[in-house]
Amino acid sequence: MSNVNKLNVYLSNLALWTAKLHNIHWNVTGQAFVQVHEFTESLYDETFEQYDAVAEVQKMRGEMPLVKLSDFLANATLKEIDAKDFTITEALQLVEADMKAMSALAREIRDEADKNDDCQIVGMFEGYLDFYAKKLWFLRAMLAK
Ligand SMILES: [Fe+2]
Repeated sequence: MSNVNKLNVYLSNLALWTAKLHNIHWNVTGQAFVQVHEFTESLYDETFEQYDAVAEVQKMRGEMPLVKLSDFLANATLKEIDAKDFTITEALQLVEADMKAMSALAREIRDEADKNDDCQIVGMFEGYLDFYAKKLWFLRAMLAK
């Protein structure tokens, strides 16, 4: 898959993940509720920023970003989940799995851009990879037994 299509997959994942992070933010329960509630808020603020930034970089290169929720659902590789009460561990494991998938996709996009000397996408996605690396460390530390 080319980066033109991968950017739309990444964008679709951001749209889905922003909603999914709210589900966890609202429905997590347990003694660390406040920490996980605030942590997920910091993450959906980032995913929402990325969502706009990725679509704008697509426009800069004459591409048409996806805009419909139905298209996001059809193209996303992350999966929606139903609302329920999440334990702290469930909540953090859900976030960690999606973040690993987003980090892997961001790396693929970054590596292909590097082959094409596309420094705009390289710079942008290296920033996203740094963000994921730090937050994946937070998640490992929070999930440590
Ligand atoms: Fe909130």
